Amino acid sequence: MAHGSRGSGEHRVRRFARAFAADPVEALLYLPEEAAKRREHPVDYTVDEDWEAHLHELLGAPWPCPQADRAAELWAEVAAELRERGLAFGRHTYGHYSDADESLARAVRCTVLHRRAELVVETGVARGVITRFALDAMAAADRGRLWSVDLPHPFERELHTQTGAAVPDCLRHRWTYLEGSSRRRLPTLLRQLGQVDVFVHDSLHTARNTGFEMAAVAEVLAPGGVMLIDDISTHQAFAPWTRSPAADTLVCPHADRQGLFGVVRAETRVRAVRAESCRAA
Ligand SMILES: C[S@@+](CC[C@H](N)C(=O)[O-])C[C@H]1O[C@@H](n2cnc3c(N)ncnc32)[C@H](O)[C@@H]1O
Repeated sequence: MAHGSRGSGEHRVRRFARAFAADPVEALLYLPEEAAKRREHPVDYTVDEDWEAHLHELLGAPWPCPQADRAAELWAEVAAELRERGLAFGRHTYGHYSDADESLARAVRCTVLHRRAELVVETGVARGVITRFALDAMAAADRGRLWSVDLPHPFERELHTQTGAAVPDCLRHRWTYLEGSSRRRLPTLLRQLGQVDVFVHDSLHTARNTGFEMAAVAEVLAPGGVMLIDDISTHQAFAPWTRSPAADTLVCPHADRQGLFGVVRAETRVRAVRAESCRAA
């Protein structure tokens, strides 16, 4: 989940040169993200310790949730399957990125299922834990389609064969994988879809990229639609949404308490927040 930059200046230049040689367009799109990181600052959110009950309230779903056991079972299944295939699972095991947090995965499954979502978009796939949880919810509801926009790790190409490893063949008929950065792929996808019921951001967690994705999705978020945004504590992009009268928001702790994710639910169209969110980024 974290996008931290590691290594010496020389190492980073060499790494960038390799990424540029492999895909010049994506490498150049990444440069402003790196530059904008200097303007990022963490936000001291008030964390909602009762977030799961409040999420179900926002979704109009019963609490305690009758789906809780299935979510726990699915988490164990995914962990065991990845382990059996000799793949890593957890924090900072996909390069400097991490697999999904368990609380976020559960929140995504409940949101897709209880909202009976038809059109779901996510950014950032890696091994596909969130993808698996969203598709499992669609299988349970017998409805919905998922579009995933993902730039496979730009600096650690040996990880590319692991993309979507957690997603079994039997769930893939509802899934469209779009390779490329969200800058490059998301606007066209959103124009084609026209409306999104549920959006999950778990790609590049810079303020600039998170703000861009949220603003783009807000344009087409269905009334009552939900955005789940991972890793909001290290930058300011989520903060304007918490002040918006147009949306209900939750700030939720990761299961391992190492980070936060945010939830936005908008009763009506939320275009007003767009400019604010862009400025913050
Ligand atoms: C935190 S991981 C995603 C974890 C995943 N959601 C899961 O369920 O385990 C971030 C993913 O986003 C990809 N990524 C990085 N920059 C991106 C960008 N600009 N647009 C789309 N995907 C990006 C990374 O290569 C990686 O696959």
